[in-house]
Amino acid sequence: MGLQISPSILSADFMHLADELARIADADWAHVDVMDNHFVPNLTLGGPVVEAIVKASPIPVDAHLMICDPDRWAPGYAEAGAQSVTFHAEAAQAPVRLARELRAMGVRAGLGIKPATSIEPYVDLLAEFDMVLVMTVEPGFGGQSFLDVCLPKLRRTRAAIAAAGLDVWLQVDGGVCEDTIERCADAGADVFVAGSAVYGAQDAAGQITKLRELAAARCAR
Ligand code: DX5
Ligand code: ZN
Repeated sequence: MGLQISPSILSADFMHLADELARIADADWAHVDVMDNHFVPNLTLGGPVVEAIVKASPIPVDAHLMICDPDRWAPGYAEAGAQSVTFHAEAAQAPVRLARELRAMGVRAGLGIKPATSIEPYVDLLAEFDMVLVMTVEPGFGGQSFLDVCLPKLRRTRAAIAAAGLDVWLQVDGGVCEDTIERCADAGADVFVAGSAVYGAQDAAGQITKLRELAAARCAR
């Protein structure tokens, strides 16, 4: 799979979600940030709303669960129709068991890590996942500045995936925009989440194309 763009609807107008989803129809995924006000200091939406988003979305839903106790709650997002479900390493009791449960339900299983979490403890587990999500802001809010300090971890994650000969996607989430996407692509990311960059643009489809072109130029090198 080549590079993919996954706009985050966190920066969309929640009163008009169907229209906002239509604006990103040219993207690969609709990134939906689920926050529980415990794992992160913000509250967004849960299973019933994800189910409604899945029905309205022209593209598959990429659920990013920033919640406590994903072992209990993550399978519900697969049931709600998300085709990719990412939970956080910091919150999971049994990440391998949960990833296997999600995969058995027919969805892609993702492992998310916050800026201060190392990838190294998870390197031997990579084959259990379809994607690693490296956060490049502290999770909780859209519109924050990209943390360059996370780039070495992106590189190490890509190297570990390559060394293991795996086809695990590497998603970067937080502060991805025209100014930062090339650095992410250089570091080995292939799935790019962008919230404020896409929804803050007048022409969301044009911004998706622009981000895709900038990343593609680097991925091809
Ligand atoms: C932050 C979320 C991100 C956020 C990205 O906790 O996980 O997906 O929406 O927004 P931007 O692209 O504005 O940083
Ligand atoms: Zn996210």
